[in-house]
Amino acid sequence: MILLDGKKTSADLKLEIAASVKKIKEEGKKTPHLAAILVGTDGASMTYVNAKVKACELVGFNSTLVDLPEETSEETLLKEIENLNNNDDIDGFIVQLPLPKHIDEQKVLMAVNPDKDVDGFHPTNVGRMTLDLPSFLPATPFGILELLERYKVETSGKHVVVIGRSHIVGRPMSILMSQKRKAGNATVTVAHSRTKNLKEFTLQADIIIAALGIPEFLTGDMVKEGVTIIDVGITRVEDVTKKRGYRLAGDVHFESVSPKSAYITPVPGGVGPMTIAMLMKNTLIACELKS
Ligand code: GUN
Repeated sequence: MILLDGKKTSADLKLEIAASVKKIKEEGKKTPHLAAILVGTDGASMTYVNAKVKACELVGFNSTLVDLPEETSEETLLKEIENLNNNDDIDGFIVQLPLPKHIDEQKVLMAVNPDKDVDGFHPTNVGRMTLDLPSFLPATPFGILELLERYKVETSGKHVVVIGRSHIVGRPMSILMSQKRKAGNATVTVAHSRTKNLKEFTLQADIIIAALGIPEFLTGDMVKEGVTIIDVGITRVEDVTKKRGYRLAGDVHFESVSPKSAYITPVPGGVGPMTIAMLMKNTLIACELKS
């Protein structure tokens, strides 16, 4: 069993990005600048946004955090997005999801200028990705491709089962894995909450990408020997033995699945850190495309 170490791989990636930023600065060019909009005080979202700001500092980017209260109206949020669209110093920005229920997520994502959409959520970028055209790839799927490539996991001709059809992970992942690309050329099954006899599919899978958000859902009896496991789940599960009162659980029951796996991502330290590194990569690309 080989651990797909997202912590180390993302650290390598951030060093590579930092080296590019150093060169950009030495050439007297503009420093890449990422902004993030956070609405409300959801604990997990605050943690992710803070980690994104910290990563910006590490690689030498400028960063701006637009921190808005829970009761912010959709109109105010759309105005903030317009400000960032029109601010020439901002190369890319993200709106942290989920948004409060009174705000229409789709309307918000569509307001982001696709050239600054470093999350790759705008329909223009989703469409371009689907058509194999250059686009910003959503950070989590992009990070998974990068992990598979760097660890030279063979995907061509393999059967990939993606569990989950979210717009952020499952759907784009299923599209990317079927495309003609380095980590691609796979036969893809998309399973979801209405899938019958899921185990029949997962037992056939060479690679399983678990992105359904149910802690420890995938168990050892559901996978074959030699499988590659990508665990996208990261749920806070109450744990009174921990000082903070919770532990982080993936969608995969690591203890029973890992002994059967050729490769597996840990949680934490697998997909999560890769997501942040790929957001940095997209911001660097956005900055370079502008100059
Ligand atoms: N919420 C969960 N994942 C993501 C992500 O990749 N980007 C944003 N903006 N919000 C998220």
